[in-house]
Amino acid sequence: MNDLMIKNIKSLILPKKTEGPLKGKEMDELEIIDDAVVVINGKKIVYAGKDTSDFQAKEFIDAQGMIVSPALVEPHTHVVHGGSREHEMSLKRQGVDYLTILEQGGGILNTVERTREATADDLFNKAAKNITRMIQHGVLAVESKSGYGLDKETELKQLEVSKRLEAVFPIEMRHTFLGPHAVPKGRDSEEFLDEMIALLDDVKVLADFADIFTETGVFSVEQSRKYMEAAREKGFRVKIHADEIDPLGGLELAIEQDAISADHLVAASEAGKKQLADSNTVAVLLPGTTFYLGKNEFADARGMIDQGGAVALATDYNPGSCVTDNLQMIMAIAALKLKMTPNEIWNAVTVNAAQAIDVDRGTLDEGDDANLVIWDAPNHEYIPYHYGVNHAHTVIANGQVIFERPGLKL
Ligand code: NIG
Ligand code: FE
Repeated sequence: MNDLMIKNIKSLILPKKTEGPLKGKEMDELEIIDDAVVVINGKKIVYAGKDTSDFQAKEFIDAQGMIVSPALVEPHTHVVHGGSREHEMSLKRQGVDYLTILEQGGGILNTVERTREATADDLFNKAAKNITRMIQHGVLAVESKSGYGLDKETELKQLEVSKRLEAVFPIEMRHTFLGPHAVPKGRDSEEFLDEMIALLDDVKVLADFADIFTETGVFSVEQSRKYMEAAREKGFRVKIHADEIDPLGGLELAIEQDAISADHLVAASEAGKKQLADSNTVAVLLPGTTFYLGKNEFADARGMIDQGGAVALATDYNPGSCVTDNLQMIMAIAALKLKMTPNEIWNAVTVNAAQAIDVDRGTLDEGDDANLVIWDAPNHEYIPYHYGVNHAHTVIANGQVIFERPGLKL
């Protein structure tokens, strides 16, 4: 006898499990089964498909004609940090741009100060609120970066807090060392980079990936290559914040270094976008950041997908360039501004996001861990369409209901 059956599902969204990420036209392929059930035993999926009388279960959840998908995967966040930067909004209103704020010692460097002075418990309690909200919004796998320490003690503190979150919440996490996220004020960038390269050995037990911010006034392509080569030699897979603001060639570098993902890519070159198709690198697009920085030009998702590349989507949740932990909002911006189709968007927040952080998530095949969401929506196109609100009705992690949308007390 199975433990649980979810019945009365109007549509079941089933992204396809593959060896690598879905690329190009494959990104628009998504199996949708109407009138479906999901059967769970323990923490595993026994069956997800057309309604049938073949299975028995001890308990039932009536999906009441709602839709069901695998839980979402969030492949790029800076969730562990101290403080907040709401004061930067007025600077932005006065026309001061992101890199100028950073150059003046604000921006990332402000958050570095707040993160250094915070205790591990402060950081944990703050990030726990965001992780809770992510789960409530249907996310059960999260990547989390360091990068607000820029020194050994604080980078380790951030990564340890990230590990603690994974131990407490029923989610799968990946942890990324982003020591070269900014150059501390008054420091020589080359000397500081060498210090971060030396830290790679110390963070190896905590971090799955090594990341760098390749940008004007931060780290050059040459410096980023040096860092990525050093990290790969030590057994890390690499990631990169590439071509977010200026077109420096970060995407080409990511592909050359066999990066698991290249993230941002708003200003990526035509040559780089073309090369994506023949690479193992997933383009992780962060359109919430472009929106929040007030830019008009968004990443060229269409160019990347139409030329055969693999795209995933993330919030980039951080206190400066994208202050939301709602991945459904990003799905809406992707539909509106990246011109991605609903099928591409669903694949980008499930299987391709999973590939970008190397987790076995985003599918509901027999034997998969039962991580899924019942969405209060009539169809899968509806979630990017009705934007800015939470459509998650019930979230199930490892076969257990961990969130049910509360109603009103009337
Ligand atoms: O991905 N661009 C670099 N890092 C983050 C922003 C960090 C911050 O502003 O605090 C990003 O946008
Ligand atoms: Fe980021």
